[in-house]
Amino acid sequence: MAVKLRGALLGAGNIALRGHAPQWMGDARLRDEVEMVAVADLSPPNLEAIRALCPGIRTYACAEDLMAQERLDFCDICTPPSSHLELVELAAGKGLHLFCEKPLSHTLSAALRIGQAVRRAGVIFQPCHQYHYSPQWLMVKGLLPRIGRIYLAEYRVQRLAANEGNPHWDPRWRTDPDLSGGGILVDHGAHIFYQLRSVLGEPRTVQATVRTLFHRGYEVEDTAFVTLDAIGVVAQVSLTWAARQREIYFRFVGEQGELVGTETGIRVQAAATEEFTLPGGMSANSSHSEWYAPLMLEFTERVRRGDRSQGPLDEALYVTRVISLA
Ligand SMILES: NC(=O)c1ccc[n+]([C@@H]2O[C@H](COP(=O)([O-])OP(=O)(O)OC[C@H]3O[C@@H](n4cnc5c(N)ncnc54)[C@H](O)[C@@H]3O)[C@@H](O)[C@H]2O)c1
Repeated sequence: MAVKLRGALLGAGNIALRGHAPQWMGDARLRDEVEMVAVADLSPPNLEAIRALCPGIRTYACAEDLMAQERLDFCDICTPPSSHLELVELAAGKGLHLFCEKPLSHTLSAALRIGQAVRRAGVIFQPCHQYHYSPQWLMVKGLLPRIGRIYLAEYRVQRLAANEGNPHWDPRWRTDPDLSGGGILVDHGAHIFYQLRSVLGEPRTVQATVRTLFHRGYEVEDTAFVTLDAIGVVAQVSLTWAARQREIYFRFVGEQGELVGTETGIRVQAAATEEFTLPGGMSANSSHSEWYAPLMLEFTERVRRGDRSQGPLDEALYVTRVISLA
């Protein structure tokens, strides 16, 4: 068996504790591939919490100290967007490969600098676009060919509020533009934009209405309506943290039929009408821990092969460009 890749977690907040660590430690294939040797976080209680999940992991109060001490192959960045540039530059400067939470960064210029740092260092970069691997989305992609060329798409995400960050750091970072770079557009839009790109291609124009309609205390938008206009297909994305009920709805209309997705299932009306139910629903929680395992395996396989293809980085840069245009 090959020597395990040595990884470090940078950030031990909610997504590290509920999403990443459970997969690095719990998935049998990942356990054979990877040893998480160290973690850095600004919060001592979160370092304790991650040590409980990853026994034996060495803990550090900052990423600089960790990188000065540890021999690593890659870093897994799980901190809020405003810190991604600094951490990417630090790790890429040491030749470490990167598995990095979305969105790439809090501003377009910081995201572009991340792209430059990754390319300059020649390291492998994998953004956490794990919705590519959600069973529901894989089902949608398998069914879409039945409706022919798509010319219209709608994607609606309704939430009641922004998720709180970890209580041991800054629980309100998602609504502080200096830390997050924006509201629901940045936080949830990121996933929708790469999903739509994978089936519709890139738009020529992006138009948006972005407002704070209900959560007056937020310094970022709680609602965004975005129209993506590509050649022959228009997509309308509506995102809100100001709904009274949590819900997801999407519709793709094609020349031979349409596909509709709701919280509980997918209906395709084409040559025949078919309905598919979705155990677990579309938006039961926000961690989607199990969707990470296939993405992590894609990353570790790329590291083993030395696959420095730029597609995943380009996808993350695309998402940041759309958000910044909106
Ligand atoms: N892919 C997804 O579906 C998904 C879901 C949730 C969160 N996320 C992303 O994960 C990232 C973290 O979100 P979260 O919900 O875990 O936040 P969180 O508030 O729960 O945790 C943030 C953690 O980062 C630590 N931290 C902050 N700056 C640091 C630094 N410079 N060095 C080391 N540690 C630092 C804090 O101490 C805290 O423990 C964000 O980019 C977020 O968008 C992605």
